[in-house]
Amino acid sequence: MAKHKIGWLPGDGIGIEVLAAAKVVLDKLGLDAEYVEGDIGWECWRSEGDAFPIRTIVLLKSVDAAMFGAITSKPVKAAEAELAPELQGRGLVYRSPIVRMRQLFDLYVCLRPCKAYAGNPLNFKEGIELMVFRENTEDLYAGVEFGPVPDELAEVLNRLSKNFAPFAKLPGDEYALSCKLNSRAGSERIARAAFEFAARSHRKKVTVVHKANVVRATDGLFLESAKEVAKEFPDIPVDDANIDAMCMWLLKNPFNYDVLVAPNLYGDVISDLCAQMVGGLGFGCSGNIGKELAVFEPTHGSAPKYAGQNKVNPIATILAAKMMLDWLGETTMAARLEEAVAAVIAEGRVRTYDMGGSSTTTQMAEAIAAEL
Ligand code: IPM
Ligand code: MG
Repeated sequence: MAKHKIGWLPGDGIGIEVLAAAKVVLDKLGLDAEYVEGDIGWECWRSEGDAFPIRTIVLLKSVDAAMFGAITSKPVKAAEAELAPELQGRGLVYRSPIVRMRQLFDLYVCLRPCKAYAGNPLNFKEGIELMVFRENTEDLYAGVEFGPVPDELAEVLNRLSKNFAPFAKLPGDEYALSCKLNSRAGSERIARAAFEFAARSHRKKVTVVHKANVVRATDGLFLESAKEVAKEFPDIPVDDANIDAMCMWLLKNPFNYDVLVAPNLYGDVISDLCAQMVGGLGFGCSGNIGKELAVFEPTHGSAPKYAGQNKVNPIATILAAKMMLDWLGETTMAARLEEAVAAVIAEGRVRTYDMGGSSTTTQMAEAIAAEL
């Protein structure tokens, strides 16, 4: 029996190519693993009306970790139009599988390392190294949304909040409502994950990102919870910033920051900004981490326009595989893989189109494998 059982979910679009590239390096490393492939993505939606079928959920319950490629998602009407004819008109609603997976398996930490590898021509500045801890199950991603808004709900809101008055006048189908839901426990556990990491890795500071000056209830609770957790870590300096100012300061003084912790949506935004500072989509890797399961993925999407061209940069996915090795306890392999990636970037001989070169996805994977 293999030492590790790994769920393998390529998805669609370039997800298939980048996961194949990750497999090249994992095989070269000789990871003792059984890979079980699962169906997920657009094709499942079209033919079954569910992009994340039950059999894939069952599969994920049986693995130690999983790698996820990417999947296409489309707005409500476009998604419905692509359903198989017999599935149309049944009220099926497309909901992002990765968001569902994060909630279903309580993968509450979204960990996004953003490191400028020396010599990457796409680095905003050399030496940037940020670690984003994004809360991954709550906030505006909770999925509690109404459009149209039922009268019953409008009546309660009108009774309980005077600020609701301008909306109370509108018919339910003339507005929509998405609930931002943040719990104390949910806020504390992501903050704790960030501080524990900072303590363990001797990082210089944790910055709490929020908008508590305006979004007082939810972001107020997030900030308060994080500050409470900070008291458990007296040796780790802590500060906080509003999400808007944070974007500005990050660009101006990236070296003033280190570990960032944020509620789900701000974390989504800030992690794209941080990824762009270290080379963009080709370099953004991500771990969705819970107590029992962790799923690793590139931050980028399925990029349908590049699908099947063997063109995109697989480094984000290969770095996600490195994160998976760490999670599996294969820290020596993880370190070797990161060194190999760093060496290929520094050498600059093999570069995909985003880096200004013409190497293929496969050539990049093989170049990294050759360094191992
Ligand atoms: C991400 C992505 C997802 C998100 C999308 C694909 C649902 O942007 O992982 O950052 O919003 O979380
Ligand atoms: Mg995102």
